[in-house]
Amino acid sequence: MNTLSIIKADTGGFVGHSEVHPEALQVARDAVSAAVADGLLIDGTVSRCGDDISLIMTHRHGADAEPVHSFAWDTFQKTTAVAERLGLYGAGQDLLSDAFSGNLRGMGPGYAELEFDERPSEPVICFLADKTEPGAWNLPLYKMFADPFNTPGLVIDEKMHVGFRFEVYDLYEERRVTFETPRETYDLLMYIGAPARYVVHRIDSIRLGIPCAATSTQRLSLIAGKYVGKDDPVMIVRCQSGLPAVGEVLEPFAMAYAVAGCMRGSHHAPIMPVGLAQATPARFDGPPRVVALGFQIKNGALIGPRDMFDDPSFDRARSQANEVMDYLRRHGPFEPHRLALEDLEYTTMHQLEANLADRWQPLTEPRVPAAR
Ligand code: 13P
Ligand code: 13P
Ligand code: MG
Ligand code: MG
Repeated sequence: MNTLSIIKADTGGFVGHSEVHPEALQVARDAVSAAVADGLLIDGTVSRCGDDISLIMTHRHGADAEPVHSFAWDTFQKTTAVAERLGLYGAGQDLLSDAFSGNLRGMGPGYAELEFDERPSEPVICFLADKTEPGAWNLPLYKMFADPFNTPGLVIDEKMHVGFRFEVYDLYEERRVTFETPRETYDLLMYIGAPARYVVHRIDSIRLGIPCAATSTQRLSLIAGKYVGKDDPVMIVRCQSGLPAVGEVLEPFAMAYAVAGCMRGSHHAPIMPVGLAQATPARFDGPPRVVALGFQIKNGALIGPRDMFDDPSFDRARSQANEVMDYLRRHGPFEPHRLALEDLEYTTMHQLEANLADRWQPLTEPRVPAAR
């Protein structure tokens, strides 16, 4: 069984938080080529969305494997060194620890990994997003795997009809739960409709008993205890032959739905599906971007990528994103453009609160006595 891993980190932005510098990408590409030559990886490619670098790799080590995670960690040290040399913004932003130990859990970089037996034809889409959070995949995953208005295969393909199993993580309480759709659709929605806290981590086909999708579910802010940038997420989705077709997997992104994570990690904004050339957040550090890299995997080789959103059928979603951005921006510092208080991550908010703490008076205090 081979494993497909996407491991990603923001190790420094060019310019600000908008893109990865070409030199950093080249350093990562050289490292991946060397790891393929050494036999650590079967195959690998490097891509990016906004200021986040993704290492997309196939290998035989399984998920959470020390050699693969430590390779990614070392590679991000190298791209951080480039960022430091060029003075890129937020050099080493996502590397929270000084030393690597065992695997990347809790160390900052995000990762989505899926271990599976390759089918004779194995179409896979790797999604990379910037300026948002792992829960941003909840809505599209629900549509792909549980909504017949998105995925007619759920109704007309006998292999899909039985449904899918969703594993959901509670990021606040560090616990997990599993729901089967369509039977437990409403229970599932009750939780995943709150994507800041509940995140779909993995989906399996009930009928085929195979894994279909995996997401990165780290929350940097919860790990670090303070704002250190958003956990711009990645996701792997397998397609066809009893799983949603490629077009069913892409379809949810035809609507520029609202996600959290734009500007200082503190604003809701529409997510814009784009080709790689446009995966460069600009206005208000956004709108948040998502790219879809399609691969056929053969004996572990990554045949691709095809840049799936580089297509006129997503023009309307892009212009809708711009329109929604206009509307939300006019709210300025007001919710719901700004995140709800409990989700505001920027440290200065806490400092400001501390500065004003002694100005607040209880409402039950005696009022100023009326003049006689
Ligand atoms: P498969 O179920 O054979 O993957 O084909 C479905 C399809 O591609 C429809 O678009
Ligand atoms: P990143 O998480 O992509 O670094 O963005 C940080 C930010 O808050 C930009 O406004
Ligand atoms: Mg950044
Ligand atoms: Mg980013």
